[in-house]
Amino acid sequence: MAHILLLHGPNLNLLGQREPEVYGSDTLDSINMAAKKQVEAANLRFSSLQSNSEAELINAIQHAKTDNVSLIVINPAAFTHTSVALRDALLAVDIPFIEVHLSNPHRREAFRRHSYFSDVALAVVAGFGADSYRYAIDAAIKTLQH
Ligand code: DQA
Repeated sequence: MAHILLLHGPNLNLLGQREPEVYGSDTLDSINMAAKKQVEAANLRFSSLQSNSEAELINAIQHAKTDNVSLIVINPAAFTHTSVALRDALLAVDIPFIEVHLSNPHRREAFRRHSYFSDVALAVVAGFGADSYRYAIDAAIKTLQH
């Protein structure tokens, strides 16, 4: 059974309270629950992890290989703009991934315009709030079904 892993980077555990004018009012739990429902309705396996630690996210990506993850959907959060190590981990396991953001980083501060992920991602979904995850998971399912 194909398996989708949803990864969330730092500070996304605070969704719902964190800068709601930028990130909306949905909590991480509600985003994970909706994603799980979507994936399981397509008869695929779902797992998710949020971490504030770069090392923990790297370990999860490395573990994804042995866990037979077929596709990763990842919001690297602030690590988007800083982490060569996370990029290298995704390239090392060679699992296709979709980069997702609640906000559209290109409409924000200049330092958010560079991503260490976009040029090696299958696709990027950004700017739709919690719906970014819905669209990204939908695209992940369709990719695996084709
Ligand atoms: C974010 C955008 C990043 O620039 C920021 O550091 C985040 C969240 C988003 O989902 O819009 O933490 O990835």
